[in-house]
Amino acid sequence: MKQAKIILDKDYSISRIDNRLFGSFIEHLGRAVYGGIYEPGHPLADELGFRTDVMEAVKKLGVPIVRYPGGNFVSGFRWEDSVGPRETRPKRLDLAWFTTETNEVGLHEFARWADKAGAEMMYAINLGTRGPEQARDIVEYCNHKSGSLYSDMRIANGRKDPFNIKVWCLGNEMDGPWQMGQKTAYEYGRVANEAAKMMKWVDPTIELVACGSSSSEMPTFGDWELTMLNECYENIDYVSLHRYYANPTGDTPGFLARTMDMDDFIHSVGSICDAVKGRKHSKKQVYLSFDEWNVWYHSRQQDEEIWKREKWDRALPLLEDIYNFEDALLVGSMLITLLRNADRVKIACLAQLVNVIAPIMTRNGGGCWAQTIYYPFLHASCYGRGTALRAIAKSPVYDCADYEAVPVIDTAATLGDDGSVTVFCVNRDMEDACLLDLDLRAFGELQMTEHIVLHHDDVKAVNTEDCPDRVTPHQLPISKLEKGSGQVCLPALSWNVLRFGP
Ligand code: AHR
Repeated sequence: MKQAKIILDKDYSISRIDNRLFGSFIEHLGRAVYGGIYEPGHPLADELGFRTDVMEAVKKLGVPIVRYPGGNFVSGFRWEDSVGPRETRPKRLDLAWFTTETNEVGLHEFARWADKAGAEMMYAINLGTRGPEQARDIVEYCNHKSGSLYSDMRIANGRKDPFNIKVWCLGNEMDGPWQMGQKTAYEYGRVANEAAKMMKWVDPTIELVACGSSSSEMPTFGDWELTMLNECYENIDYVSLHRYYANPTGDTPGFLARTMDMDDFIHSVGSICDAVKGRKHSKKQVYLSFDEWNVWYHSRQQDEEIWKREKWDRALPLLEDIYNFEDALLVGSMLITLLRNADRVKIACLAQLVNVIAPIMTRNGGGCWAQTIYYPFLHASCYGRGTALRAIAKSPVYDCADYEAVPVIDTAATLGDDGSVTVFCVNRDMEDACLLDLDLRAFGELQMTEHIVLHHDDVKAVNTEDCPDRVTPHQLPISKLEKGSGQVCLPALSWNVLRFGP
């Protein structure tokens, strides 16, 4: 059996983990809103039309922040369409996803949903077809108390207290040719800077996320960050990163190694932020918002076919990836990567939350179930809060098509505020279990309290409405620690949550 080792000490920490690392994303796209969180007429809908079964599944995940309303959708969106009496709200063609947006669910309705879910809203503004003026208007509408055109409009629309939205995205993926109103890095940096200034003049307490590259694979990646940050560095607080991975060739070891790229991506963007900081002799530290991350590829062909058949329908079933077991392992590794970079990444959003490349699926008029990727996210969100520990980890390594020396055991560890310790591990080995030596002596009298594992013999196994429990976590027997040391067996191809307490 292979062997790995992890040494932890409570004084060796990476950083406090910002709870917003466990954020998610709801876009007006496909059945995320209509048929996802909202389905009036469904037997389980509440008085507002929100599905209570979906709400329960979301609440379990403990998502603290939800990015809204897009995504690509936002780059052609007029926020005014989404407020005021529903019957007068316009239906618009959405050129991002070739559907019709009815605006039945708008800002006020979503805010109520987010409140019920216990999440704050992270609101993306349109810097594609619109600019700084509409950006300041919506901040005034949402966050100004009263006594001005837009704040009074909000009150007239039934919301006396400001929404007090704290985090705002300055557009979405503005480097992408698929985006309405795509910009060069310089054009974007200028407009983001002017929008940022005006938005913060309306409400100085807000935090702003500038668009980084839409992927590390964009030809302009790096240069985009450098150029746009040169224009807006002093007025923004975070740079966004987006990354989706795929396994079209069925190369599981190569697929599971993709977090090597995610880690590089985070370090590169952080370094560029620091280079701009140095060049500007600035004291300001810009952090990272990894506000779209996931696996995404299963549904691409299906989407092309849907669009061939029926463009412009409301709530087309787009981006409905059915996630398998190996996807859950990569999602686990992506969470591990985020935790290990908790000093730099302060916000992250699993893209997305319901039906659209999502951990939670629904059938219109039918059930709601958890996809495979639901579980690593659930565990990391529930047990990965507190302080990220700087683990000394030793693991066997392997080579694959794109990377050399990929650790077989991918790991991150956290110290909870209650003194509990959690170690998250993915065993990337297809064949062998791995014996993990644990050295937690620095914590004194700790004992293992739980070993949760997610494993399936078939990497392509999925959960469905009829078979929702095919890939679900289970408990393994716990190992005894002797004076803080012990050994745990990590099954081949598995996601593991090792929990320790006094
Ligand atoms: O999350 C789906 C889409 O992926 C988003 O709308 C866009 O920002 C990204 O390209």
